[in-house]
Amino acid sequence: MPHRIGVLLSGRGSNFEALADQIADGRIPGAEIAIVISNREDAPGLARATARGIATKAIPSKGLPREAYDMQVVAELRGANVDLVCLAGFMRLLSPYFVAAFPRRILNIHPSLLPSFPGLEAQRQALEYGVQFSGCTVHLVDETLDAGPILVQAVVPVRDDDTDESLSARILAEEHRIYADAVRLVLSGRYRIEGRRVIKLHN
Ligand code: GAR
Repeated sequence: MPHRIGVLLSGRGSNFEALADQIADGRIPGAEIAIVISNREDAPGLARATARGIATKAIPSKGLPREAYDMQVVAELRGANVDLVCLAGFMRLLSPYFVAAFPRRILNIHPSLLPSFPGLEAQRQALEYGVQFSGCTVHLVDETLDAGPILVQAVVPVRDDDTDESLSARILAEEHRIYADAVRLVLSGRYRIEGRRVIKLHN
């Protein structure tokens, strides 16, 4: 049985597309993207999924309490027999209900070296702080924002002439690489979690 991935996104969908490309090239064995869900009907990522023949669903969040919204999303994911959830620019905090529905099976990507610069505009935060290295992180999701055990990180140097755009673009290229690495790791099952630490098993 292939692993069925549900992708949640709010915008552009380049991380979704990078995952879809890697799967299409056979570089994430045993994986398929079952559904792409967005809280925004106009998210370009939904159109990109449709163009690839992948099922999509817009579930607008306006006016709904967090848990009521998450119940709809979880029901949709379960209906699609999803066993791994990938947040790919999904700009909402998940409720404890959602997290408990897929224990240690929800991944998120964030454009900084967590725990530095959680939240919005992480690349701008890094630039304004003056760090010389930033990067990106894929982590397991818990109820806290941009936290949870770290699966994979990549370091990106900050250049003196960087702008928000140039730094974001270099980080994004690494995001596309490490999200697939993290999905491969989780689907292989070759890791164990000790406290916050993800220990990779080599055998
Ligand atoms: C990515 O840079 C991702 O790391 C970030 O949103 C962007 C989505 O781009 N996510 C967060 O900041 C989550 N806190 P994409 O739609 O092209 O994948």
